[in-house]
Amino acid sequence: MNITVVGSGYVGLVTASCLASSGNHVMAADSDRHKIEALSRGKCTFFEPGLREMLADGLDSGRLKFSTDIANAVSQAQVVFICVGTPSLEDGSADLSAVEDIACSIAQNMSDGLLVVIKSTVPVGAARRVSELIESRTAHPCTVVSNPEFLREGTALNDFLRPDRVVVGTNDPEAMQVMRELYAPFVRTNQNILFVSNEAAEMIKYASNAYLATRISFINEIADICARTGVDVGQVRAGLGADKRIGSGYLFPGAGYGGSCFPKDVQALIHVGQQAGADVGILRQVHLRNERQKRLLAEMVLERLGPDLTGRTIALWGLAFKPDTDDIRQAPAMEVIRRLRQAGATLRCYDPKACLNARYELGDVGDGVTFECDPYAVLDGADALVICTEWNEFRTPQFDVIRRKLKERIIFDGRNLYEPATLLRQRLEYHSIGRQPTAPVKSISSKPIRNAV
Ligand SMILES: NC(=O)c1ccc[n+]([C@@H]2O[C@H](COP(=O)([O-])OP(=O)(O)OC[C@H]3O[C@@H](n4cnc5c(N)ncnc54)[C@H](O)[C@@H]3O)[C@@H](O)[C@H]2O)c1
Repeated sequence: MNITVVGSGYVGLVTASCLASSGNHVMAADSDRHKIEALSRGKCTFFEPGLREMLADGLDSGRLKFSTDIANAVSQAQVVFICVGTPSLEDGSADLSAVEDIACSIAQNMSDGLLVVIKSTVPVGAARRVSELIESRTAHPCTVVSNPEFLREGTALNDFLRPDRVVVGTNDPEAMQVMRELYAPFVRTNQNILFVSNEAAEMIKYASNAYLATRISFINEIADICARTGVDVGQVRAGLGADKRIGSGYLFPGAGYGGSCFPKDVQALIHVGQQAGADVGILRQVHLRNERQKRLLAEMVLERLGPDLTGRTIALWGLAFKPDTDDIRQAPAMEVIRRLRQAGATLRCYDPKACLNARYELGDVGDGVTFECDPYAVLDGADALVICTEWNEFRTPQFDVIRRKLKERIIFDGRNLYEPATLLRQRLEYHSIGRQPTAPVKSISSKPIRNAV
């Protein structure tokens, strides 16, 4: 099939590359000229495991092409996927201006029988509005379906190529047939395509993200109760997750969820609910708990080292909002850095992939933040280490090097990567989420530390 994908970011580039890999001819379009130039040369504009190779294969095969000429790309397509961003507006609602721009461009350049597929996350009623927008600007018939994307950054290719389910909002038999053909290579084993109304497809996406965010905020609240009652949240999490009705996914206490989806989608759903007159108390609390959680790690540092960190150096591991991505949008690490910098600390940061993006994002923070390519180099001259992202390479570090280099020998772990007993054996003071701090007896602490040996 001849497909155009508009928007070549995380979702668009994965969609375009995967559809080209299954034999389609795909034109990936974007308004960002620099992005398109880089992609045309085979240079991936963000880090996603396996994507660089898939991009190279697509370009080599001639089935994947890139363009900034959206009008031309639309005019040649049988199917147009809309994959542009839908960021939060001030009031929390989703900004649909890019989606609507594309709709206008489609109306001006399409030919008969075009299928428009909305992959961007959009609120209930958006597909209908896009359809009306197109119909009001052209006499050509066209069908608009909502096909929300569920991929996770870090495992995006596998998620797209082997989805749990594909959700398609349409009852049009021709659109159903085209979508079945497009997804057939990816759902061979489970045939799991759900055809629902456009509105239900839109809501399924928001409800899915809101539910996952709820689990995270829930376990973070349990972690808070555990910390205050002397219970190890790690043990509670294990017992909770072992119940088949509950399962263990998205139940890890930590420094809060980030990324470009959960925070904005929870807020957008709150807005949709409010507009419809619904009680959105649960969703509101999910969001508020997460805002508090993102401040927690910095507060732990300030409580332990004092409110004035002038002259102190803090080493920080992990800038991305999750491992295996370079995405720092809404990442808890950004909040931690800003807060500690405000208190006067100098920060030395390491992340395997996200340093460039973080440097750009933190431009306003000034000279007090530096980035290194070696996790142990950032420890030189540092008082303490703060961990914000659970990259695999942090799971079994050289504790003896950490101990030798850190002046105060303290780790603040926002992802509960280690067993407190292990850190005690390693003679490191250890603060984590929802568990008692532990410290060797000689540690100097402004606050009594339980479990000292
Ligand atoms: N990133 C994820 O993990 C993920 C997962 C599922 C769904 N989504 C949803 O998919 C959508 C896209 O997310 P993303 O992370 O890929 O965003 P992104 O910011 O990485 O990419 C969006 C792209 O759209 C381009 N763009 C914006 N306006 C345009 C216009 N008018 N014409 C042409 N190109 C335009 C931008 O230049 C950018 O390259 C969002 O609605 C998001 O909520 C994202």
